[in-house]
Amino acid sequence: MTADFDRDEDVFMLETERLLMRGWHEDDLHDWIEMNADEEVRHYFPSTLTAEESVESALRFQAELVSTGFGLWAAELKEAIPYADDRGKPALLPPGSFIGFIGIHPLPPEVPSMADGTQIRYELGWRLAKEVWNQGLATEGARAARDYGFGIERLPNLGSYTTATNAQSRRVMDKIGMKLETEFTHPELPDGYKDCVLYTMTRHQWELTNQGI
Ligand SMILES: CC(C)(COP(=O)(O)OP(=O)(O)OC[C@H]1O[C@@H](n2cnc3c(N)ncnc32)[C@H](O)[C@@H]1OP(=O)(O)O)[C@@H](O)C(=O)NCCC(=O)NCCS
Repeated sequence: MTADFDRDEDVFMLETERLLMRGWHEDDLHDWIEMNADEEVRHYFPSTLTAEESVESALRFQAELVSTGFGLWAAELKEAIPYADDRGKPALLPPGSFIGFIGIHPLPPEVPSMADGTQIRYELGWRLAKEVWNQGLATEGARAARDYGFGIERLPNLGSYTTATNAQSRRVMDKIGMKLETEFTHPELPDGYKDCVLYTMTRHQWELTNQGI
């Protein structure tokens, strides 16, 4: 069942100042299962995930990374990151720690097109362990994924969607230069999660903002 893990050689890896974005390792599963069982992490989703569902999703993400070379990369710390432990005491997460995922994923068909009718095939997405929130890590990894999507894959556009009330995720979208495209009702999500927002960026917009590089 875990045969596909630990195949980094088949995955295009990204490196940022503080993150290595790589393929999924069997060793990530313990923390990944714990993250998805955490109600705070799953606050904007209809439910937490069982251990089986978490393992199945990690296998799916790894299979996608291996087959296409990009996807939802497992994010690993390159340097120690401060956090508050269960009793609020300052502690350090060591280098090498798995902290969640950041990357590019096919956008579900129920998400609307751009206002001019252009279809969006891929979305940027992120989910990190709560210990590392609000230190800019999602933004750092999302910028790398965005640059990979536009610069290497030459994608024409990228979307990102979330429930309208997910302010922290919307803030990441803002910070990486995406613009609010539309608000929409997600037909597949249960009541309380249906009100969603779609943010977008085109490669042309990205090229304009990256002219100085
Ligand atoms: C969304 C998520 C990945 C962001 O990760 P992160 O590493 O904390 O993100 P960053 O630190 O790069 O940016 C977070 C921003 O949101 C802001 N923020 C945090 N909580 C907020 C709130 N309740 N209201 C408004 N802004 C908030 C932070 O201040 C920060 O903005 P700033 O840099 O301008 O101060 C993380 O919160 C997470 O994993 N959440 C659970 C899973 C999830 O919702 N995923 C997205 C589903 S679409």
